[in-house]
Amino acid sequence: MEGGDGILIAPSLLSADFTRLREEVETVERAGADLLHVDVMDGHFVPNLTLGPFLVDAIRRVATVPLDVHLMIDEPARYAEAFVRAGASFLTYHVECAEGSPATAERIRRLGARPGVSLRPRTPVEALRDHLPLVDLVLVMSVEPGFGGQEFMPEVLRKTRALREELSYSGRVEMDGGIGPETVGACAEAGADVFVAGSAVFGAPDPAEAVRVLRARATGRAGRRR
Ligand code: DX5
Ligand code: ZN
Repeated sequence: MEGGDGILIAPSLLSADFTRLREEVETVERAGADLLHVDVMDGHFVPNLTLGPFLVDAIRRVATVPLDVHLMIDEPARYAEAFVRAGASFLTYHVECAEGSPATAERIRRLGARPGVSLRPRTPVEALRDHLPLVDLVLVMSVEPGFGGQEFMPEVLRKTRALREELSYSGRVEMDGGIGPETVGACAEAGADVFVAGSAVFGAPDPAEAVRVLRARATGRAGRRR
């Protein structure tokens, strides 16, 4: 699963062509994807609906790399078991949702997946304090969750930096939203090591080249902040 110097690239299937899902998965896996990012939306926590455990299970059956499942739903604890059974390796909930308590991280861990916690662009990192000892990953949203193809919000980079420097978080820090060749370097420099990219990969004429460029630019900038 680990790419060069610990950097992980996670193409977001939200931007894939679902009529050709198997081919899309194979294309990005051949391109060197370390994880497949799967966006789950419930129409309550965010104003959009996507997919549930049934489709995660189908994706798992065609995938060979681990699934990184991002729950943008109000009841992650309620549905955690179904997503773990469907094949989620990382299972990430939002701190702002109705069940966004540290107990959700503990539940996900007990079910056998790796818990992650995410925060919206305007939520301060201090909100994560009680979650950090319990999670393997923090997902810093760099757009308002809900849709692919939005513009990167550079003001969230200070939160990534604060997680590493002020809160001394040593787990994975993932960034999601508007990540592309022009923004991935600043994210790596701020301390992120997992990069989600939807439109930058699936919208590229050559997805394999897009993944290679993201990895090269992230690798080139990682660790510079130290
Ligand atoms: C947005 C999702 C993202 C989305 C990113 O709510 O969490 O994972 O797919 O898409 P891009 O990379 O196009 O901004
Ligand atoms: Zn996502």
